[in-house]
Amino acid sequence: MPDTADFLRLEKLQVHFPIQGGLFDRVLGRPAGTVRAVDGIDLDVGRGEIVALVGESGSGKTTVGRVITKLAHPTGGRLLFEGHDMTSERGASALRPYRHRVQMIFQDAYQALNPRHTVFDIVAEPLRSLRLVKNDTQLAERVSEALASAGLNPPGDFFARFPHELSGGQRQRVVIAGALAVRPELIVADEPVSMLDVSIRSQILQVLVDLRDKHNMALLFITHDLPLAWLIADRIAVLYLGRLVEIGRADDITFNPRHPYTVALSNATPKVRVGVSHIDLPALEGEVPSAARIPKGCRFHPRCPMAIDRCRQEDPPAVEVGPQHMSACWRAGEVKARSELLGVARSSSVEPLERRLVSSLVKDRCRSSISAEAGVPDLPDPIRGP
Ligand SMILES: Nc1ncnc2c1ncn2[C@@H]1O[C@H](COP(=O)(O)OP(=O)(O)OP(=O)(O)O)[C@@H](O)[C@H]1O
Ligand code: SF4
Ligand SMILES: [Mg+2]
Repeated sequence: MPDTADFLRLEKLQVHFPIQGGLFDRVLGRPAGTVRAVDGIDLDVGRGEIVALVGESGSGKTTVGRVITKLAHPTGGRLLFEGHDMTSERGASALRPYRHRVQMIFQDAYQALNPRHTVFDIVAEPLRSLRLVKNDTQLAERVSEALASAGLNPPGDFFARFPHELSGGQRQRVVIAGALAVRPELIVADEPVSMLDVSIRSQILQVLVDLRDKHNMALLFITHDLPLAWLIADRIAVLYLGRLVEIGRADDITFNPRHPYTVALSNATPKVRVGVSHIDLPALEGEVPSAARIPKGCRFHPRCPMAIDRCRQEDPPAVEVGPQHMSACWRAGEVKARSELLGVARSSSVEPLERRLVSSLVKDRCRSSISAEAGVPDLPDPIRGP
C-alpha cells in the first residue's frame, strides 16, 4: 500500500471563472455570472500512489490538474505540498523547486510538442530551464535516461527527429519523457492515452505504472474512463460538476460503488467492462449541466434516477460509507452493487495487449477483491483463457 503521509493535499479547492457579460455589465465592472469549474474539493495523493480522477467532460478534471501544476490559480481553498502552502506561490524562480518535483503530461501530444524542435531539445528543455544539469554530457545522459524510461529505445535514434517524424504513440512517449527528465515525484497525467490506439494505450500505461513501481513516483491520472481508472489506480476520485461525489479504493469504487453517478458512469461504459453487474439503474442520460448553472441541492439530482425531494433542496455532504470510502449522496446506503464476476478475459472488447496489461497489473487485484464472494469462480488466465 502506498505511503499516504502528507504529500499532495487539496483543501476545499475552488476555481471559479467570471463570465464576461455585455457592455452594461462591463461598464459597471461586474461579471455576468460565474463558472464554478471546481467547487470545493478535498483530495490527497500519497507518495508513490496512483489516484485516478474520473468524470465526464466539463466536470473540472483538467482545471484541478492545472491548479496542482500551478498553471491555474484557485479562487478559494488551499494547495499543500508536503505541508507547505503552495496556493499563493507565484513566479518562475519561486516555483522552480516545485516544478522540479511536480510535472504535467497533456492529452494532445501534437499540441504539447513544438514542431520545430528536435526530440532532444524538447526533452532537454525542462532540464535547461530548471537548471538541473551542469554540462552537455550530463544533459545528454539525462535526456537518454528519460527517453529510455518512456520506452523510446535506443534513445540516440530519436535525438535528431522532429515530432512529425514520429508515430502518435512515440509522440506521447516524448511528452512523457519531457516530464520524466526532471525526475519528478508527482506527475499529473491528463487523459494521456485517450487519443491513442488501444494497443499503444496499454504500453503507455505500463510505462506509467513502472515509474511508480521503480521510482515511487505518484500519479494523478485524469480520465473519463472508469474501467481504465480501475486498471491503473490505487484509489479513484469521481468528479461531477466540480465536486467529488465519491472517493475510495479502486476496487471499492468499481465493485461496490455508493453513489448513483458512479454506477451510471460504469453502466455507460460499453468497453472493457471489468466484471461487475450493478444494481438496476439506467445508464446515464442527458448532458452535464453547465458549471455556470449548478442545480440547487444535490447537483446530480436532475439526472439521478434515485432522486427524492430532499435531494432537490439540500446539498449532501461527503460521508464515510466504508474504510477509506466516502460518498456524497443522501441515499448512499441504498446504492449497493452486486459484484458478480463476468470474466475480464472473456470480454471480446479487451484487446490482446490490454489483456497483457490486465494480466500483469490487475489479475491479483481482481482475485483478491472478489475472493470473499461465495460461489465466484476463479478468474481464467487473461492470456491463455480458462
Ligand atoms: N479559462 C476558463 N474560463 C472559463 N471557463 C472555463 C475555463 N477553463 C475551464 N472552464 C470551464 O470549467 C469547466 C471545467 O472544465 P475542465 O476543462 O476542467 O473540464 P474537464 O473535466 O477537463 O473536461 P474534458 O473531459 O472535456 O477535458 C467547464 O465548464 C469549462 O467550460
Ligand atoms: S443525493 Fe439524491 S440526487 Fe444526489 S445522488 Fe444521491 S439520490 Fe441522487
Ligand atoms: Mg480536460
